[in-house]
Amino acid sequence: MPAPRPSAPRILRPTPVNLARLAAVLRRGGIVGVPAETVYGLAASALDAEACAGIFRAKGRPTTDPLIVHLASVRELASVAEPNAAALKLAAACWPGALTLVLPKRACVPDLVTAGKPTVAVRVPDHPLFRKLIRLAGRPLAAPSANPFGYIRPTTAAHVRDGLAGTELRHVLDGGECPVGVESTIVDLTRPDRPRLLRPGGVAVETVEAVLGCRVSRPASRGGATIRPGVAAPAPGMLAQHYSPRTPLSLHSRLDAAALRRLPADEAALLLRRPASPVPEDLAPRVRWLSETGALDEIARRLFAALHRLDAEGWRRLHAEAPAGGAGLAPAIRDRLTRAAAKR
Ligand code: TXA
Ligand code: MG
Repeated sequence: MPAPRPSAPRILRPTPVNLARLAAVLRRGGIVGVPAETVYGLAASALDAEACAGIFRAKGRPTTDPLIVHLASVRELASVAEPNAAALKLAAACWPGALTLVLPKRACVPDLVTAGKPTVAVRVPDHPLFRKLIRLAGRPLAAPSANPFGYIRPTTAAHVRDGLAGTELRHVLDGGECPVGVESTIVDLTRPDRPRLLRPGGVAVETVEAVLGCRVSRPASRGGATIRPGVAAPAPGMLAQHYSPRTPLSLHSRLDAAALRRLPADEAALLLRRPASPVPEDLAPRVRWLSETGALDEIARRLFAALHRLDAEGWRRLHAEAPAGGAGLAPAIRDRLTRAAAKR
């Protein structure tokens, strides 16, 4: 394992020259920070196990956690996976987009990418720069989120640079802020008659159900989690994934004016929307909100950037409101907040 370099990776503007340079890095087996519509990814050639090993090293990610393979278009799907009719239907309706499908894998996909599973997770990202880089590199790109393992997901190039400084990552492609802000929805279609939701994300599960014309089963522990201050819901999923700020985080179903008045001076609150009446001046620096109107897409887009900012400010504890309900992006936002509040 190469010794970590102390310097931070460079942020490159998406000029044709830089894109060609980054494609060459990827063809040579290097890793690159790339913008997706969801969150920034840490990309490497998906069919090159040694290149993908660089992803795991840079993130400090256990090799038991498989990667998502990104394609430039649905035409390449059959080269890495065995698509079924349900997958093709979803791909036609939702790609490019924040939906990842788990399917039986082809032999060309290295075991490191799939954590030894006979299946592969695959999607076509809805970010023109990411797809351009896949095309220029001329191969599918494996990419997890570009954060140190267990930390808040990156939604700007600066988050990636700061989070992975001192690792072997040298370059981050700047694509601005991620427009969706939470990672892709993952649906397991290895049994197309019994689709299963593995992770709520940027595409609402009811959209998936409408396309498939059948119910998608949810993980048992997710929907019913109750949110109490300081009490973490059980982390669902195959691996207990964390999104933890360094600052302790408590979740609340609602932080009203009275709750904000009780906030200790060294703690901060993150609301889902701007309060109806103005926040008193003495409280204002400690109270932030994610949206003007409560729109879930705006909340999702701003969530991780707000957590990054608050985490850098040195509060003793953070308090956040989590959205209720099972529709749209609410389950994905609640899932990420619950995991951010869970103790490691
Ligand atoms: O939006 C996204 O999905 C972002 C961008 C970069 O595309 N990527 C992302 O990757 O969130 P990551 O590694 O943070 O999450 C991928 C998750 C893994 O943790 C694992 O739970 C699941 O996808 N996964 C990957 N391959 C799988 C497989 N063969 N079977 C089941 N789950 C799998
Ligand atoms: Mg990740």
